[in-house]
Amino acid sequence: MDIVDCLLEGHRTLRSSLACMAVLLDGPSGVGWDDCAALDRERFSRELKGFFAAFKAHEAMEDAYLTRILHQIEMEPDLNAAIAEGHRAVAEMTKLFGAVAASCDGEHVYRLRTVLSRLSEELETHLSYEEKVVFPKLRALLPDRLLRELGRRAQAATAAAAAP
Ligand SMILES: [Fe+2]
Ligand SMILES: [Fe+2]
Repeated sequence: MDIVDCLLEGHRTLRSSLACMAVLLDGPSGVGWDDCAALDRERFSRELKGFFAAFKAHEAMEDAYLTRILHQIEMEPDLNAAIAEGHRAVAEMTKLFGAVAASCDGEHVYRLRTVLSRLSEELETHLSYEEKVVFPKLRALLPDRLLRELGRRAQAATAAAAAP
């Protein structure tokens, strides 16, 4: 597993966590602001916790093994600026989502569903950009051996962070 595989695994986890929360918020029984759902709050809050943990872990992995490396090899500054902007936008939406989720009563889910869908869009834009533009460049610029070594280090760091 090289570093790009590790980062792609993080993307899969984030996507599936958001999809799972969208399913939990599904099943509207009203319209607009009256749109209610009997939300399984326990399950939702477990998923939410999992999403935040995966988000933090992915952010940390990209800080350590993507943005730093890109700076070191001085890859197009525009690319770094685009990544930073994507991270800022996603982090802001994630914070908003967390705040709305914290104030949700489990029944009036309209706001929560709306913010989740905006977060999913924002995240998808960023993840696709990395997958289509950044990762291929990284693989083209760095030797395979280094990509694998970075992957090994990232996996070791993840395992250490997960250890009790
Ligand atoms: Fe990212
Ligand atoms: Fe990413």
